[in-house]
Formats: sequence, structure tokens, C-alpha cells
Amino acid sequence: MNSLYRKDEWLIIEEEFHPGKNRESESIFSIGNGYMGQRANFEERYSGDCLRGSYVAGVYYPDKTRVGWWKNGYPEYFAKVLNAPNWIGIDITVNGKSVDLASAEIISFSRILNMKEGYLERSFRILVVQKKTIEINSRRFLSMSEPDLGIIKYSVRSIDFEGNIGFNVYVDADVKNEDANYGKKFWKEVARDVTAGSGSITARTMKTDFHVATGMCYRIKRNDAFLSVKPEVISRDKYIGNKFSLKIKPREELTVLKFVSVLSSLNIPRENLMGDVGQHAKKAEQKGYEILFSEHKKEWAKIWATSDVKIEGDIAAQQAVRFNIFQLNQTYTGRDERLNIGPKGFTGEKYGGSTYWDTEAFALPFFLKTADQNVARNLLLYRYKHLGQAINNAMKLGFRGGAALYPMVTMNGEECHNEWEITFEEIHRNGAIAYAIYNYIRHTGDKTYMPDFGLEVLIGISRFWSQRASWSEHRQKYVILGVTGPNEYENNVSNNWYTNTIAVWTMSYTLNNLEIVKKEDPDRYDEIIKKTSFDFAETKRWNDIINRIYLPYDNERKVFLQQDGFLDKELIPASLIPEEERPLNQHWSWDRILRSCFIKQADVLHGLYLFEDKYDTETLKRNFDFYEPMTVHESSLSACIHSILASRTGNIERAYELYLRTARLDLDDYNNEVGDGLHITSMAGTWLAIVEGFGGMRIADGRVQFQPLIPEKWKSYSFHARFRGVLFEIMVNHKEVIIRNLSDRMLSIVLYENKYQIPGNEERTFKIKN
Ligand code: BGC
Repeated sequence: MNSLYRKDEWLIIEEEFHPGKNRESESIFSIGNGYMGQRANFEERYSGDCLRGSYVAGVYYPDKTRVGWWKNGYPEYFAKVLNAPNWIGIDITVNGKSVDLASAEIISFSRILNMKEGYLERSFRILVVQKKTIEINSRRFLSMSEPDLGIIKYSVRSIDFEGNIGFNVYVDADVKNEDANYGKKFWKEVARDVTAGSGSITARTMKTDFHVATGMCYRIKRNDAFLSVKPEVISRDKYIGNKFSLKIKPREELTVLKFVSVLSSLNIPRENLMGDVGQHAKKAEQKGYEILFSEHKKEWAKIWATSDVKIEGDIAAQQAVRFNIFQLNQTYTGRDERLNIGPKGFTGEKYGGSTYWDTEAFALPFFLKTADQNVARNLLLYRYKHLGQAINNAMKLGFRGGAALYPMVTMNGEECHNEWEITFEEIHRNGAIAYAIYNYIRHTGDKTYMPDFGLEVLIGISRFWSQRASWSEHRQKYVILGVTGPNEYENNVSNNWYTNTIAVWTMSYTLNNLEIVKKEDPDRYDEIIKKTSFDFAETKRWNDIINRIYLPYDNERKVFLQQDGFLDKELIPASLIPEEERPLNQHWSWDRILRSCFIKQADVLHGLYLFEDKYDTETLKRNFDFYEPMTVHESSLSACIHSILASRTGNIERAYELYLRTARLDLDDYNNEVGDGLHITSMAGTWLAIVEGFGGMRIADGRVQFQPLIPEKWKSYSFHARFRGVLFEIMVNHKEVIIRNLSDRMLSIVLYENKYQIPGNEERTFKIKN
């Protein structure tokens, strides 16, 4: 396990430069504001190993897939979030020699991520000519109040050096993606304009024709006084810069304040980009660093006021949970319904920045409980807007009559996965999208979403399930053949319990809501029926499938079976796998993995997590005890679900162990892969393991319920959550549960089966039940 970073409640601190681990730290120290993201690359030149990454949400490229696949229905491309023009560049020379940490004599180095205020700081001292010392301090943030702005304060301080410091403040649009399938560059320059003190450049993406304009302005200070310089203006294909040199003496400090605006054709007409981006950067310069920084900090304070989790008595856990909340909020702010949450957010190229079922299954429940309801609503609207594409996706596979199959991987609604058996066959994602509508409505009480948007999506998904299920003469039941469940270590299986369960649940939920909308909003109902060409006769088959679905079950063990034939496997615990053979996917052949009983991630247990209220505790326990020992948790999305179920069944020790596996996954780089980017969507699962797991938060019968437990090791913990517009904080220690209503409205809760009302701005203390 890799513990590079010092433990602190609000900071992530790297105290030494580890060139061999630079990619890891670049991911960990990433900053973002939902609109843009930036890996923790250095502003100045760096010739060592690094993954340069600046990303603009929604700007992607459909890279032709490398799999030479010939089967009908296979996607042609894998969409990639693009490494966008590098806006952070400030190259430095000392008496003409480049500062490059790969070759410099480093005296000290630190990188700090301030999660409370949302900025990255770096500080280092190096020896320069004649063993003299200079110190460089840089701080940067991506503004949460004006999301197109990135601001850098970069200072060179001389300790005892006298000589020339050269600066080159630049924007470089000549960037590429490391994961490009054919090594192609994806950007072409459109326009460039640079003068002394400012410049803008617009580049467009090939194929998708997104235009991204990057404008910069800067100011220079010697100690506290601004000064003007006469820079050399650099202008070449895909590159603009301003170069100048200044004398420095011991104890003097030269500071560059760089103000950058990044605008894209997603928001601004192409013809206005160059003009607007220059103006935005200029306005930012006029506002100045201090005002912009204080506005940015205020936005972070607002986020923390509704989402912070405090853990007393375990600094590692405290740091980890804040890191997770911080990264989730940096990735998605919910301001724009065209955007979504890639499994690695803006912190790397892996998974292409595309949308997976992770959004509905993991991220949405987090945002539902911590952010304004519009944030989650925008996540739902993203799918609503892709309904037409989902119908096309299904048509490509031979489905008809408005059946919708949402993609497993997408940027624009079109399926773009690059693995058939694993990704494509995971049709269970369609269920997660339906469940998300249900989850949103039960959390928010929003009565308009179903008639306005939800029902159309549900009809499309239910039609898909209805056509995808087939009648088995042999079983006299409906079956769903040839799927991959959430457990990707089984491919092309039949009757995956999870998939069959969520399929029939979706159809029943749709039927109920057809009735409700028909009764409550008949005009809208008629509109929907017309728009979707819905024929009520379709529901006959739905009802038949609901009543006669085959759900594999073992009468002897009294457990649900993951799929047909699961009991034919040699059922052995994962504890028997030699340590050096883990993770299995890096050591075993795919053939061996598929034949084994080992489970990559929660599958039946994920279904029990979603539909927990339909089963008694004994059933949950039996299934947990059967599947948990065979689960290898080789997806970061697994242990959190097991942890929640362990809490639910009263097994707090196991819940805590499983929680630990997810909480510091990235900070301690358990799987040796953080260099590729952070596991953003699984961070939501970790948060859920506290709130739904230890806190026992559930929504049922229109009320919010809690069954709090507390891990032995913690003195106390507290979390914020929302339910139907009421924000509250729950604090749990080994004796008490304190519930604070932080809103003006009455909070109605159920605590350990008893109902309570807590008036606005009041708190109540209860005894904890052990
Ligand atoms: C998991 C999937 C997930 C994907 C992206 C895979 O390893 O098995 O469930 O959607 O990663 O996070």
C-alpha cells in the first residue's frame, strides 16, 4: 500500500517529490469545477514522466475502435474526453537555463490540495547557478463562481540568487491524448491572436467540430508592486506566448498572475468565441486575483455546508471521506444537463470520460442527498434527452416499436463501448436508469418529473424488457438469455437474477405510473400515449412477464442464484486464492476467470441493496453470507454495496472492513492504478457506505429513516443530508444520535422505527441502539 500523503483533515499533502509516482500525484491533486478539470501537472517545463491533462466537460472525440470487429451492432468508435489546450503553461529560465524538476537539484518540494477552499498549491526550492537557491510557489484554482476561469499565481523568490529570471506565459493547443487509438492528434487551429500581455487561441476537434477558445491575460509583480514588461510575442501554429526576462535580487519575489478563460462552442456561438474569450480573461484580470479567489472560496463553503462528513477519532478516514466529497463536487455541479460524470471524472483519460451506469447507480444517490434537487434532476434529464438515441441503439440490435436500450458507455446517447461481452451485454444498465427516476422522486417528492419526462423513458425501457424476455417452453417461465450482470467475471449468462429482477420491477413501476399519470394528469397522459404510440394492449405481455418471470433460486441454501448454472461451479471462498494471484484479471486467463465462481462485484447483492425492503433480514443475511466469501471486489464499485448490506444486517465489523477497502482506494493507491485517474464514481459509493450503511438512511413511505450504528474505532461521525428540501445533520457517537434540522421547515423522521418531528432550526438527542 502506498501512503505518499500526509494525513490531515482538510489537506492532502505531498512533502517530497517522487518522480516515479508523479502520475499518481497528478491524479490525486487534480482540480475541477464541473466545467473543466486539470491534472496536477506543473506550470513550468517538465521533461520527466507525466500525463498532461486539461479537460473541458462535454468536449469529446469519437476515436475509431481498434477492435477489428465484424459483427452487426458493434459500435464504430469509443468516445474520448479530449485533452484540451494546455492553459497552465508558465515556463521559467534562470540565467537562460530552463527550470525543469526532472533535472533540477531539488532542496524541498511540496504539493498541497486544499479541499476546504478548492485550490492546489506547490512550493519548491532548487539550487541554480553557483549553488544559489530560488523558491517557486504556485497556487491555482478553477473558479467555482465563474466556471470558465482558471487562475494561477506563480511566484519566483530569490533566496540568495542574483541574475535573470525568464518567463514564458503561454497557451499550447498542440496537445494529444495518450490513449488515442491510432496516435492521431485531435485538434486543428481555427484562430489565434496574441499581443503583449494577452492572447487567445481557438482550436477545433476533428469529426465532432467542437471549438474551444482559450484566452489569457497576465500581470506581473515585483514584491507587492505591479510592473509592466515589454514581452516578445510568440505566435505559431496552435501556440501563443509572451516571453520576457526580469532581474531578481536576493529576497525579491517576482509574481505572474495568469487569468485564463476557456469557452467552448457547447455554450457560445463559434463566431463569438475569440471575442468573448478575450473579454472574459480581461474582465478576470480587472477583477483581480483576490476577489476571484474569495468568490471561489465562498462557493466551496456553500458546498461543504450541505455535504460535509466529520469523523472523530480516525484522521485517515476523515481525510478520505472529504477527499471523496471534494472530488465528486469538482466533477459535477449539475448546472448543465448535457454533462455527466465519467468514472474517472476529469482526472485521467481512462474510460474516455464517458457516462456509465455508475452515474445512476452510485453518483445520483450521492447528489440526491447532498445537493439541490436540480442537480439530480439534470442527471435524469441527460438520459431523457438521449431517449431517441436509446431507441436507435435498440433498433440497431433489432428491437422495434419504441423499445429503448440506453448505452453502457456514451458521450452523446449513442452506444460507444469497446468490449462486447462485458460491456454490451450489461443490459442491466437500462434498469438502473429506470430505478434512478424512482429514487429521484422518492427523495424529492417532485410530482412533475414523472408526467413531464419520466414516463416516456419508462415506457421505452419497459418495451425493451418486454421484447428482450422470451418464453421458455421448458421452464414455463419467461427468461432473459445471453446477458452480463453487474459481475463482469461472468459473460453471456442466462437468467442473471439481478437483471431479471430489475427488468420486472421496471415494468411494474411503469404500469403503476401509467395509472397514476392517467388519473392525475389526463391531458399529459394523452400526449405521452400519442407521442410514444403507446397501445395499452402492450401491457398484457408486461403483466404476463411480471407474473411468470424465472428467478433462479436454490431451495436448499435458500439463496437467489446469480444466474443459471451457478451451482455447477466449484464454490470455494476467495480467501483460498493465493495473494500473488490477485487481482485475478491481471493473473488468470479470461477463460479461467469465467469458469470460476469468483465474483468481481456485487451482483445478487446489488439487487438486494436496491430492493431491500422486499426481503426480510434473514434473507439478506443468507445471501450476504453465501456471496460475500466468493466476491473478490475487483471493481471499485463493489465493497461499498457489501458494506451497506453488512451494516443493514448488523455486522458492523465487516461493514467497517469493507468500508476501509473503498475509502482510501485512491489516496493509498490500493490497486496501483491511480496514475490513470481517480475512481470518481466509486467515491460516491464510499459516501453511501457511511450514510446508508452506518447511518442506515433509507427513504420509505414518504419518510426518511435512520438506523445508526457506529464503528468501534470512531469516536463519532456526522453527516449532512437532504430530504424533500429539508437539510439536516446527523451526529452519531457511542451513546447518542443528535439530529439537527438545518432548515426552516419541519423534519419528519423515523429513527429505529419511531416517528419524530423536529421543527426548523432545532435539534433533538436520542439514545443510540446497540
Ligand atoms: C465495472 C463496471 C463499471 C465500469 C466503469 C467496471 O470495472 O465493473 O460496473 O461501470 O468499471 O466504472
